[in-house]
Amino acid sequence: AKKVIFDTDPGIDDACALALIAASPALELIGITTVFGNASVETTTRNALYLRRRFGLAAPVARGAERPLSKPPRDFPTFIHGENGLGDVALEGLDSLGATHAKDAADFIVEQLRAAPGEVTLIAVGPLTNLALAIERAPEITALAAEVVVMGGAFGTAGRPGNVSPVAEANVWNDPDAADRVLTAPWPVRIVGLDVTTLCVMGPDYMAGLRDRAPGVGGFLWEITRFYEHLYRTRDGIDGINAHDALAVARAIEPALFRERRGPVRVVTDGIATGQTIQSVEGVRYPPGPWDGLPSQSVCVEADNAAFLKLYAEALVAW
Ligand code: BDR
Ligand code: CA
Repeated sequence: AKKVIFDTDPGIDDACALALIAASPALELIGITTVFGNASVETTTRNALYLRRRFGLAAPVARGAERPLSKPPRDFPTFIHGENGLGDVALEGLDSLGATHAKDAADFIVEQLRAAPGEVTLIAVGPLTNLALAIERAPEITALAAEVVVMGGAFGTAGRPGNVSPVAEANVWNDPDAADRVLTAPWPVRIVGLDVTTLCVMGPDYMAGLRDRAPGVGGFLWEITRFYEHLYRTRDGIDGINAHDALAVARAIEPALFRERRGPVRVVTDGIATGQTIQSVEGVRYPPGPWDGLPSQSVCVEADNAAFLKLYAEALVAW
């Protein structure tokens, strides 16, 4: 199995993604690192500890960044994930969740990559602050990661807009400076952005199927997605939810479900397009510019949604 560190801001779809990691025999979770984003880092860390117990996991939870590298602290989108980050479902037993790891998220990532060179996949589904800090503290880690799978960005390949501005996706927008460093670093990045995640919908029947066929975990995911489903219906007129982060996990499990486009990626860090992700597509030539000499990364431009939904449900039912 691939060793995985899950860098996350749980978060309803983060919880859906963690369930897939836990259920998948192809992945071995060696740590969870937390970051601000969908809620404060206190809340996302508490939720990570809660999900660890709820899903029967043993991996350490290392707490990470509470704010972006250099931008002002962000507001938390409680209207999307609820005040408690998990759809305001009552969470029991919060006083006995166990402790976080002694190291912070960035140091934990550095330590784990050094301990198993070439073996660890990072799956990052929140703002990229922890990964940027890890690179800053130990630049050599970019040669040590097996791959870095990121849920983030909006490249407009399928005409999908951003979700916090016409051009920006939330994880990237939350820390554009960190995102620019992580996506331009010399390690193999696989980006799963809104181009594909917004086209993949888990409808009410699908969620009810998870609830009924995978009673423990499916029931819990059904509960926490009630709030999220309501938001999608009332705000976007969509019958169902986008489980953004779970698609990034699927990219780590089954790359063949995705079609990619390759080329260096930059992030706009200031001005009205802050948080926009731009790929200079391989093979297209321009005069000298800000993409020169950067590593070519993989941007997902299409996903086999039916195959993904099948993989997700089968993993949870078999778990
Ligand atoms: C991303 O932002 C967060 O709200 C979700 O958890 C996901 O990681 C989607 O833009
Ligand atoms: Ca997330």
